Amino acid sequence: MAKLTFQIFTISILLFLIAFPATGEEEHMFGKSINRKSMTLKKEKLSHFRFFWHDVLSGSKPTSMMVIPPPKNTSSFGQMNMIDNALTLGPKLSSKIVGRAQGFYASASQNDVGLMMVMNFAFIEGKYNGSTFTILGRNLVFEKVREMAIIGGSGLFRFARGYVQASTHSWDFKTGDATVQYDAYVLHY
Ligand SMILES: *[C@@H]1O[C@H](CO)[C@@H](O)[C@H](O)[C@H]1NC(C)=O
Ligand SMILES: *[C@@H]1O[C@H](CO)[C@@H](O)[C@H](O)[C@H]1NC(C)=O
Repeated sequence: MAKLTFQIFTISILLFLIAFPATGEEEHMFGKSINRKSMTLKKEKLSHFRFFWHDVLSGSKPTSMMVIPPPKNTSSFGQMNMIDNALTLGPKLSSKIVGRAQGFYASASQNDVGLMMVMNFAFIEGKYNGSTFTILGRNLVFEKVREMAIIGGSGLFRFARGYVQASTHSWDFKTGDATVQYDAYVLHY
């Protein structure tokens, strides 16, 4: 009896598979696997970049502005700044600009000075002109070195992944202006 039940079960499954083939071609028309070679991807490489990030809050042309004030005046938690900060080759703001850090950071830690950083690094120099990569990470600003993820990119940084290490070069506690050294390690094609 058990054997017959099993046979009926098996046959039912077979009939089901014939009636409803698993390919479901029409359902998946919007996505299909393609050959990597058709993308003419080169060999994946690892690049290191070093530049300085300038958070300018003061003066007549700030590039970092508070867009959401902290809801409580007892801590900065909840504050958000929008940025269009210069990325320069040297620590001086007057040195060569290679790109801009565009995005925002928000105070996301109640017990530390900890920021959530969301930035596109948009390059304007040489072969990287027009290419971007995206940084998302946790920034405990009083730590010597903060590590954040590179989660993707465009142009020469398509399929990018990696990390940055940020360390404060200078900070003016009166104005809040800061210069931070960024070392980026990026895997890309
Ligand atoms: C902080 O906020 C409280 C309540 O809104 C207010 O009474 C106090 O004056 C504020 N303190 C400062 C330093 O702004
Ligand atoms: C970068 O690209 C833009 C737009 O294509 C162009 O106007 C600009 O001159 C380029 N800059 C450099 C340094 O090549």
